[in-house]
This record gives sequence, C-alpha cells and structure tokens, in this order.
Amino acid sequence: MRVLVIGSGAREHALLLALRRDPQVDWLGVAPGNAGTSAVAEQCDLDITSGPAVVALARKVDADLVVIGPEVPLVLGVADALRAAGIACFGPSKDAARIEGSKAFAKDVMTAAGVRTAASEIVDNPANLDAALDRFGPPAGQAAWVVKDDGLAAGKGVVVTADRDAARAHAAALLDSGHPVLLESFLDGPEVSLFCVVDGETVVPLLPAQDFKRVGDNDSGPNTGGMGAYTPLPWLPAEVVTQIVDEIVKPVAAEMVSRGSSFSGLLYAGLAITSTGPSVVEFNCRFGDPETQAVLALLDSPLGGLLQAAATGTLASFGDLQWRDGAAVTVVIAAENYPGRPRTGDVIVGAEAPGVLHAGTARREDGAVVSAGGRVLSVVGTGDDLDAARAAAYQLIGSIKLPGSHFRTDIGLAAAEGRISL
Ligand code: GLY
Repeated sequence: MRVLVIGSGAREHALLLALRRDPQVDWLGVAPGNAGTSAVAEQCDLDITSGPAVVALARKVDADLVVIGPEVPLVLGVADALRAAGIACFGPSKDAARIEGSKAFAKDVMTAAGVRTAASEIVDNPANLDAALDRFGPPAGQAAWVVKDDGLAAGKGVVVTADRDAARAHAAALLDSGHPVLLESFLDGPEVSLFCVVDGETVVPLLPAQDFKRVGDNDSGPNTGGMGAYTPLPWLPAEVVTQIVDEIVKPVAAEMVSRGSSFSGLLYAGLAITSTGPSVVEFNCRFGDPETQAVLALLDSPLGGLLQAAATGTLASFGDLQWRDGAAVTVVIAAENYPGRPRTGDVIVGAEAPGVLHAGTARREDGAVVSAGGRVLSVVGTGDDLDAARAAAYQLIGSIKLPGSHFRTDIGLAAAEGRISL
C-alpha cells in the first residue's frame, strides 16, 4: 500500500513511524513534512489547503491512501476533493469537519444527540458581552470563565480564567477581529482525550490519553497547542472508556449520519470526567497533538490497515485493536518565547535520536537541523509503567540541546504518583 501523509508536525511524524511498522505499507510520502520526516518518507512540496493540489500530488505518487493530519485542510474540504477524484482518504468531509471547525455546530450536534457537555452561549455582538459574562462567570456558581474562539485557533483561542477582566479582554479582542465568541460553563474534573476511528456509525476507540495544555509546570501560564501527553490513564477505569464510547461518541456519530454529515476519520473527544460523569469539552476532527505521539507508540495493530478500513467503509470488520503493554509519555520541547512569537533558526543537537519526533524543524543548507516553529520536537519515552516511560522521555530530553528552549517537567507526574482520582 502506498500512503501519503499530509502535514508537518510531530503528529504526522508519529503517524509515519506507525505506518512504517505495518508490513502492508510499502511506500510512504509526506507533504510538506519537516527535517525529521524526511528520514521516514519521501518529502513532497505542497499547498495542503488546496484540494486540486493535493489530488494532483496523490495521483503523481500513485497513492492508495491519503491520510490528512491537520484540521485546516479538512475544514476546507480537501478530503472531499480526494474522494471526488476516486482516491481513498482518511479524514472527514468538509461538512463533517464542522464538528471542530464550528463550536456552535458541535454544540448543536451534541444537544440533538443528548450528549453531556458544558452549557454555552455564542456572543457575536460586543453589546451583549457583559451580560453574557455575568451569566457564565463565578457569580453564577462557576469556578472560572471559559472563553473560546468559535472557529479554529490551534488550541490557543481558549482562555480559562477566574479574572473577569482577563475573560472580557480575550472575548473583546476576538469580537474586534470579527470572530464570534463561545462562552462556556467550567467543567471540573480530570481531562481525557479519547481518539476514535469512526466510519459512519462504526466506532473503534484508541487508548485514552491526557494532554497538558498550559505552558508551565503545575498547569501555570497560558494555553498552548499542547506541551506533553501520556497513555494509558491508570486512574481511568475501563468502564468509563466504554461509557464514553456508548453514551457520547456513538450517539454523536449516529447524529451526524442522520443529518447527512456522516463522519469518516478520527473523531477526537476531549472530555472532563466530572463528579457526575464524563462531559464533552470539545470534539476535534483529526488526531490530537501531542497525544498521538504517545498513543501510537503503543499500537500493535497495523495502522495502515486500520486507516484504510475507515477510508473504504470496511471498519466494522477490522476487529479489536492490539496494544503493547506498558505506558508511553511524550514531552514537547518548545522554542524560546513559545506560545508567544517563537525564536527560530537555532541549531538543534540530538534531534536525530530514536524517539525524537520533529515538528517545527527545518534542514539548513549546510545540513544542520534548526528550529522553525513554536513546538519544535516531541520526545517519546515508553516503559513498563508510567514512571519508566517518564524516566525514558526525560533521559532522552537530556541529550537534546536547543538554545532558549523549554519543556514541562511534570508530564504524567500526578498520575504516576497516584494523585488523580475520580
Ligand atoms: N491536544 C490538543 C489538540 O490536538 O487539539
């Protein structure tokens, strides 16, 4: 099978490494990729937001399957262009990708499917902002304001704060730039990312993971695209995963089928496990980053076969997934000043070691690997348990040098110390 992966992050690097383990996969391409993915796959230039360009490349490389990593091409309809050209594609249609592209659409689907999620309100007129903040803030019994950009914002459009002025300033800035704002009630409880391969009403869950969105240890500082993740979750009973699949993901998948927006691809449920059960924080229409780097490190089933089954409507007969024992931890190394404007162009030492996945990297003309984005590398450690996986990841980080870079030191720590309970 010839597989072309679209994207350039550590998630795509992880997808490529897992695809390479599948004996059915005999050719791998990536577009546009990064300095690390070129060691795994043939690297191709591409405007990933252009359906015709992606179709032309898929034809040129004779791809049997195209796997779309990021949300932007999905929301723009690149999967539709591929399917219209008769090319198998892992990734939802433009219509179905609204589950991520429009939080208002996602809320509507969840309400119709009877799925538990935070109460919410869209504000699109600055004149209504103060009254809406009063309805959603701590005076109404909430621990904090949750203010989101209604559209795509790469994880950075969300502010969760107990400071009304900060909540108001974020909402006002979004409205000023023409973006509707979603105000939500705060969901208390540990968060879970559950990735499910979905084709219509068929749902195949992957291992649950937890990611770390704040930039600093102990969840300090601003939100980022994700600073680390671990899997599985020792504190989450298997029955809760079954409950999430049966009471949340399957009803949402069925609702999307019934409204003619059938989902085919990776449906990512971001949840809070509250005192009254799992509740949805958000849905995404693609693999999450950085959880994918940890989850795929433990996948034993052939990834190419799994993604092809979803893309060709045969997922129901794929069977249960097989997983390696133990745990996996990924820690993101970010450039100086991330999540603000990151410093780029610094030489990275140690970036080619096994277990180091590339995101914002590029190869300079002299062959050196240099930083080229905010989240630069994802380091993955595996082991018999979370302690061992953490130790492996942080040992590997010790061998990497990137001036000015930073990373969290507490990825998976609370779980390893038994400090998370339901
Ligand atoms: N892990 C957060 C995201 O992928 O959006």
